Amino acid sequence: MKSISCNYYNIHINDWNSFQSLYKELTSSNTFVLVDENTEKYCLHMLLEHIDSVVHVIRIPSGEQSKNIETCQRIWSFLLNNGADRNSLLINLGGGVIGDMGGFCAATYMRGIRFIQIPTTLLSQVDASVGGKLGIDFMGFKNMIGLIQDPSAVFIFTEFLKTLPHQQMKSGYAELLKHGLIADKHIWHRLSEKTTFENLDFETLVYESVMIKKEVTEKDPHEKGLRKILNFGHTIGHAVESYWMDSRTPLLHGEAVAIGMVSEAFLSYRIGKISEAVLFDIRNTIIKLYGHHPKYLKPTEEILHLMQGDKKNHKGEFRFSLLESVGNACYDIAIDQDKVTESFMFYKEKMG
Ligand SMILES: NC(=O)c1ccc[n+]([C@@H]2O[C@H](COP(=O)([O-])OP(=O)(O)OC[C@H]3O[C@@H](n4cnc5c(N)ncnc54)[C@H](O)[C@@H]3O)[C@@H](O)[C@H]2O)c1
Ligand SMILES: [Zn+2]
Repeated sequence: MKSISCNYYNIHINDWNSFQSLYKELTSSNTFVLVDENTEKYCLHMLLEHIDSVVHVIRIPSGEQSKNIETCQRIWSFLLNNGADRNSLLINLGGGVIGDMGGFCAATYMRGIRFIQIPTTLLSQVDASVGGKLGIDFMGFKNMIGLIQDPSAVFIFTEFLKTLPHQQMKSGYAELLKHGLIADKHIWHRLSEKTTFENLDFETLVYESVMIKKEVTEKDPHEKGLRKILNFGHTIGHAVESYWMDSRTPLLHGEAVAIGMVSEAFLSYRIGKISEAVLFDIRNTIIKLYGHHPKYLKPTEEILHLMQGDKKNHKGEFRFSLLESVGNACYDIAIDQDKVTESFMFYKEKMG
């Protein structure tokens, strides 16, 4: 049982008592719970065991393709048709899609009703739980419409991870590795020793990771500087994720970020920040956990083109967040296209 206080709300880990007391304190006129078909099946019964009043369950289809304005209209209509008023409460029980979209719907319904986030994927527990970013995709762009607003509280229960598919665990684990690499070498070393994602002490791992994200976002809430270090692995990772998104072999976010982290570790080495030994340690660890998939960087020109469309990059130059050392990162580092191409080659090379 652990708790972290952010500016105006708390994040509780494995603490049903705090959930129950907050729920009582909020004494809502009526409560709504937003789920998708997986969290309805695997998580809802556990939540309902800790709620003694009747709740309205709002069901939406799972996946990123639901994170749009049409689904929001369904959610707002459900709220309205079932008597939600300014004192109602929305509990978002699910991964980042449910949290981002449910939070967005709550923050805009009647100019804002209270909401509680209960992230149920590893990715949403260590990433989406901090920073208050809410929103939906629009016209093919991710998170294009949204706002930043704090929930009443975030409750993380690591028992929900037991039903999470292996690939989703792997995806979330990449953000844990990233937090270690950019901010805490001890965390990185501990995580990098693992060979499987099962039977880990997730209460501690999630707590440490959330603390890192919280400290970084609190120092720079509007992403003017320091917060950019959270983008390590993401400049290349996002482009790879987007390129393969509609293919027959798409990658989950964290799997693409894992490839991005190897390439961006190479860039950190190439500009003299980390040693060759450290670079190979990072590469070997990530390939041990995620496998080696050179095909994802083969369409070099197309991926570079997608990176050029990224608002962080301009005039043929790319801006990266890179490693200063293991446990320290820097941001706004200008890198030319040739070095980026070299970093793709480094990832693609077959080694021992
Ligand atoms: N707000 C932020 O700061 C922030 C940060 C990172 C990511 N995000 C957003 O989060 C989304 C990705 O999050 P995600 O990876 O959690 O995706 P997701 O919500 O689509 O969940 C992934 C899959 O896991 C299933 N699932 C969820 N919990 C489960 C459980 N306990 N057991 C079994 N299955 C379960 C879901 O139904 C879904 O099929 C993206 O839309 C991204 O933009 C937001
Ligand atoms: Zn990420």
